[in-house]
Formats: sequence, C-alpha cells, structure tokens
Amino acid sequence: MLTNLKEQPKDKILGLMSMYREDPRPTKVDLGVGVYKDANGVTPVMRAVKAAERKIVEEQISKAYTGLAGDPAYAEAMTDLLLADSVDRARLAAVATPGGTGAVRQAFELVKVANRKARVFVSDPTWPNHVSILGYLGIEVVKYRYFDTATRAVDFDGMMEDLAEATSDDVILLHGCCHNPTGANLNLSQWQVVIDLINDKGCLPMIDIAYQGFGDGLEEDAAATRLVASSVPELLIAASCSKNFGIYRERTGLLMALSAKAESTAVTQGNLNHLNRQNFSFPPDHGARVVTTILTDPELKADWMAELEEMRLGMLGLRQKLADELQTLSGSNRFGFIAEHRGMFSQLGTTPDLVEKVRVDNGIYMVGDSRMNIAGLNEQTVPVLAKAIVDAGI
Ligand code: LMR
Repeated sequence: MLTNLKEQPKDKILGLMSMYREDPRPTKVDLGVGVYKDANGVTPVMRAVKAAERKIVEEQISKAYTGLAGDPAYAEAMTDLLLADSVDRARLAAVATPGGTGAVRQAFELVKVANRKARVFVSDPTWPNHVSILGYLGIEVVKYRYFDTATRAVDFDGMMEDLAEATSDDVILLHGCCHNPTGANLNLSQWQVVIDLINDKGCLPMIDIAYQGFGDGLEEDAAATRLVASSVPELLIAASCSKNFGIYRERTGLLMALSAKAESTAVTQGNLNHLNRQNFSFPPDHGARVVTTILTDPELKADWMAELEEMRLGMLGLRQKLADELQTLSGSNRFGFIAEHRGMFSQLGTTPDLVEKVRVDNGIYMVGDSRMNIAGLNEQTVPVLAKAIVDAGI
C-alpha cells in the first residue's frame, strides 16, 4: 500500500529551515521562517508566558478534556483582544484550533461544507500554505493582484479589478495586518472600499490574522478586522497566538465565525465543533490556557504588552536601519519601502535567481519569492545584508 505513495512537493519555507541548519558557514543569516528572534538570535519564551506557565503548573488540578471548542474563556479573551466591542457576541461562534494553520484549515473546511461551489480569492502572493491547503481540499483558488513589484506597495487598483470577479458563492481571503509575505498593507480607507465590494457582491470575507501587535500596535493592527466585523453580515477569522505570544510550538489558534443573525450562531457553532471532532477531537489546551491566563490577569497582560511592544519597536528599528544602510550603499531611495512595510516580513520584489545568489555568496537565507524575515536580523547583520543586496545588483 505505502509503495503507492508519491513524494510530496517540499514546503518552500520549511525546506529553507533545513538547508540553513546544514550550512556550515558561521556567518550565515536566517531570514527564512517567520519566527521572532532577539538580538542574540534567540526566540525567547516571553516573561508573561513563563509566569503564566508557572501559575498553571501550580494551580491546574486536572487535565481532563475541555470541550470540542476548547475552553470558552480562551475564546472570550481572544475575542476581547481582537474584536473588542465591534460585534454582537451573540452572532459569534468560535473554536480553539491547533495553531493559526489549524484555524485556516478548519475555515476552508467549513466553507466546503457550506458551499461546494465556493472559490477562494487569495492575494498574489499569499502565505504559500493557503494555496496548498486549498489545493489539498480541492477548493478552487483565484488569485487577485496585490503586490506591485515596482513600487513594493499594494496594487490597489489591480486588486479591486480582480475582486470585482467574485460572486456570492465566493470567499475573499484577506490578511488582517502585517501581510505575509509582502509586508505591504491596505490603509483603512482601502479596507472600506474592499468592505463595500464584499457587501455589494454578497461574498464571504475571511481574515487571517497571525501578527497582531507586530505592525503598528495591538489596537492598530486589529482596526481593519474590527472594521470588517462591524460592517459585514458574515465573516470568518483565523487568528494565531504563535507569534505575538511567542508560543509557536504550543499550536494555539482560534477560528471565529460571525453569522448574519444570532439565531444562526448555534448551528454555526455546532458545525465548528463537528469539524474539530472529525479532525482531531479536542484542540490543544496548554497554549490556550497560557494565553487566557495572561489576558485575564492585569499584571501579566501589562507585562506581555510591554514585551510585545519592545519586539515590535525592535523590528521597526531594524527596518529603518536596513533602509538607511541600503540608501547609503546604493545611493538611491529605492529601498525606502522596507521602512514603510509592517510586520515580520518585507518582500524585496526580486527574482529567485538573485535570492539564490545572495544565499550562495553570503549565506543569507530568504524565501525564494524574496521574502525576508526582518526579525531574523540584528545590528551586526543589517550591514551584511545591505551589502549583499547591493552586490547582487538587486
Ligand atoms: C511563516 O510564514 O514563515 C510562518 O507562518 C511559519 C509557517 O508555518 O510557514
């Protein structure tokens, strides 16, 4: 039986991780996978996470199952963080999921259950796993223009022209903030135009938000999601706690589904629970409990927010330093977009060949589509990267 199996295509982000590990050069720089690193190249356990874990170890008296949707306190704390008072909670169903990827997967499965004809519109480019999961589930993918490789900003006219093709059978997938992989984001007036189109066409918006707090701040990064939530009848949101709580391996995500009417919420919730049951039964609890503990304890929450803000400002500082360094070395302002982008990533907008050249010549690893993880840099490696970019003729 197993001899029938064919090799699967390699995930380009994860493939890069192993290539980096095998590179013996001590000067190598990892700008691949989206993991935050401090100035010493360490992905730290955040202070509030450590404290919450200690508290859980002390106070937890049982590890019996929670519920198919996870602990309701987790969904409530996450809803407060992400949506605040932008929606009528009676219209909201939610399930805990194994990471943000689990939420994305369950969202697509829900779409498939709700409408076999649904196509999913995704930005070009988007996080590669969006396209991969949709392909695996046999859901048609429609790419909409998003990134202008000349300006390295959003091609908003192109995007709207392509989204105009969506029908009431379709889903439009949007990144809530800190677009992965480009780092280029819509402003709130552009979001409003997208919302008007969604309401006009009657299609279902889906927001993937994995970097709240990494862009302009916790509240600012939630603003677009809240605007959508308060303006549309139905909405899916896949949220991840991997990055902003630094709990990557704990697999902590949440899928929220907003129904048009409160009377539909129970059925929506039942479908979400059913999907969890079919795929893995109960969602993982530890990371969700850590997040809930932090968000419901004012002291821990304040400390978490302070540390997250330090991380955000650190990444912004690195962006500015890289843009400045590139301006000096290239004698032009064509890399100014790096300081304008937000979140963990910036897409250089160059060819895979030049990305490969930078890797071979300098041991600098970025994803083939020229996505750089800004958090993989530090004060010492910024000038090294800037020189490598200019030397490669990018
Ligand atoms: C990334 O985009 O690098 C992260 O979201 C990690 C992943 O799972 O791809």
